[in-house]
Amino acid sequence: MGKTYVISRPVRKELKEAEKKIYQLLDGAPIKIRESVSETLKAGGKRLRTVLVLLSAMAGDYTRGAALDAANAVELVHLASLIHDDILDEADNRRGRPTINYSHGYKLATAAGDYLFGLAFQLLTDYHDNRVIAPLSQAAMELSLGEIMERNFSCRYNQSQDDYFTRINYKTASLFKAACQIGGIIGAVTDNQRLLLADYGYSLGMAFQIYDDILDINGDEDTLGKPVGNDLREGIMTLPMLLARKNDSDGLLKSALVNSDGNTIKAAIAFMIESGAVTQAKSVARNYLDTALSSVAAMDNNRVKSELLSIGEFVINRYS
Ligand code: FPP
Ligand code: MG
Repeated sequence: MGKTYVISRPVRKELKEAEKKIYQLLDGAPIKIRESVSETLKAGGKRLRTVLVLLSAMAGDYTRGAALDAANAVELVHLASLIHDDILDEADNRRGRPTINYSHGYKLATAAGDYLFGLAFQLLTDYHDNRVIAPLSQAAMELSLGEIMERNFSCRYNQSQDDYFTRINYKTASLFKAACQIGGIIGAVTDNQRLLLADYGYSLGMAFQIYDDILDINGDEDTLGKPVGNDLREGIMTLPMLLARKNDSDGLLKSALVNSDGNTIKAAIAFMIESGAVTQAKSVARNYLDTALSSVAAMDNNRVKSELLSIGEFVINRYS
């Protein structure tokens, strides 16, 4: 198990309550969906997006029912997107457990993802506040755009760093940002505090994804629960590859992008580490994190500031 973040007892209590509610919600689902999604839920996960909604709501006046529903809505969209991603990737395991598409087939997995997606939005309908629904629907569209973009850019050696940053904004930062915005709205924070929360969520998400891409190169396979080099094998150019490209005069990276034999991938990974590209990517992640932390620093004093900061540090010090 990788390093996890430390949250205070009151937040841990809310997180547990949110998890309990998700299982209760699944009680109303058809049995096959309930069973398959429960297996996926039991595999764990960091529940970072849930915690971001909860903490952002606690930055203002915390209303329990609304905060738990909103936190679960965001987590369910995330879960739905992972289930659909595993279908598209034809992945057989996630977080060390068989995926739904592997155990139950892609048809059930598609239905399960769709069901969770619908459930997520149903959870928000009680609040009659478009400001809660809008960020989540926006993020859901951006998740799909990220997925489409990743596939369109697959195996393309010539792409810009901007292409990469746009992609990771869509695929990861958008939902982190939405989590913080929605929490802030539920907590009725001021407009200025909400903007700071949104900036925090965005920058944290960018740092998170860059670090995730770094772990795909230098992470520990047992902790990650998957082999390193997956991005290269799938033809996905990440920041370390884009940074190493200027030294790729022998075309090693270029060939690794389209040729996934073990030795080529291994050599490309060693090249990215030795050329300093991984270290440079870490410093880009650190810059995003610093921006996230400065948004928190600019917030009014509130009871969750220190926890928002510590989640930030966790994001780039984690092992998985
Ligand atoms: C996992 O990342 C995948 C995502 C963050 C987003 C996937 C989005 C979709 C499938 C679009 C559909 C979305 C909705 C709203 C249902 P990764 O592929 O980088 O990492 P991993 O496969 O190694 O976990
Ligand atoms: Mg994937």
